[in-house]
Amino acid sequence: MKEMNFKTLEWTDGELRILDQTKLPLRVEYLDCKSVEQVAEAIKDLNIRGAPAIGIAAAFGVVVGMQNRNYKSWEEYQIRLNEVVSILGNTRPTAVNLFWALDRMKNVVEVNKEKSFKDLNELLLKESISIHEEDKLMCQRIGEHGASLLKEGDTVLTHCNAGALATGGIGTALGIIYTAQNQGKRIKVFADETRPVLQGARLTVWELQQEGVDVTLICDNTAAFLMRTKKIDCVIVGADRVAKNGDVANKIGTYNLAVLAKAHDTPFYVAAPTSSFDPAIESGEKIKIEERSKDEVTNWFGKRIAPSGTKVWSPAFDVTPAELITAYITEEGIKEGLKFKV
Ligand code: MRU
Repeated sequence: MKEMNFKTLEWTDGELRILDQTKLPLRVEYLDCKSVEQVAEAIKDLNIRGAPAIGIAAAFGVVVGMQNRNYKSWEEYQIRLNEVVSILGNTRPTAVNLFWALDRMKNVVEVNKEKSFKDLNELLLKESISIHEEDKLMCQRIGEHGASLLKEGDTVLTHCNAGALATGGIGTALGIIYTAQNQGKRIKVFADETRPVLQGARLTVWELQQEGVDVTLICDNTAAFLMRTKKIDCVIVGADRVAKNGDVANKIGTYNLAVLAKAHDTPFYVAAPTSSFDPAIESGEKIKIEERSKDEVTNWFGKRIAPSGTKVWSPAFDVTPAELITAYITEEGIKEGLKFKV
């Protein structure tokens, strides 16, 4: 299995160590989370981000929150578990992987009620390690399936960061690029900068450069002209939540690209593990969209760029309707979307 030369998150000696993505690309620094509150803050503040990585961090967050306490009764253990799950569950509402991972952790306790608190905590750690390992494998498989769609010399446009920094493995959208490259195909990538907090410029460009991928950064508003004037073979993005009808919530600006891809007759692929699919949500309208602080828009790395008192609307994600999606690339294979069918 392909390994990256950096670790997005790692369990070390009873602590969750995460690569602090707010410092990239200028500095490679790590945050050691020793409490559930620290893990929750790190998720909220985007020190760790990306749907699968949020889920994995939350799973380890449960372990951190439950360990090293003296439980006197099953009720006490149960109350603490609910508290820990609620602290983590109240961080970011859109990525379903967070709730999927927390449900798995709760379930481990539910089906092992008769065990000692020490054994339960060990089982929780085991489950979070499994969630991490499974994600690695899912990324690998997504990479293999997705790479079959790319030919030597293809150029791909991507948005935000759906790479190793966003997952436990090689990434989803970017995992496809790495796999194609390992197969000997030369793939060029255009990366949207991804306002407001520039996951494309800071993170996608950084990690593609680490792997020697030919990457060119564009401003978000360049995408239409790029598609009109250069050869873009496809758009590949990740997902935070895929509704039952195939609508996809992903980083704000994804919908723009899907509309542009339609206008330029370009395939639009969504790469995501099945842990990002939410059959309980009928359609995209029902997905809760996180809104971020206005400071992320009015300020540029600590410097104000808009007049004080400026009104801001800053949804962190948008919803791309299923009819704009050519195909979904999951660990299970490639599932055709509705685009070009209608
Ligand atoms: O706000 P972020 O950085 O967590 O948003 C991340 C994205 O939108 C990703 O595209 C998505 O989570 C998929 S990551 C494999």
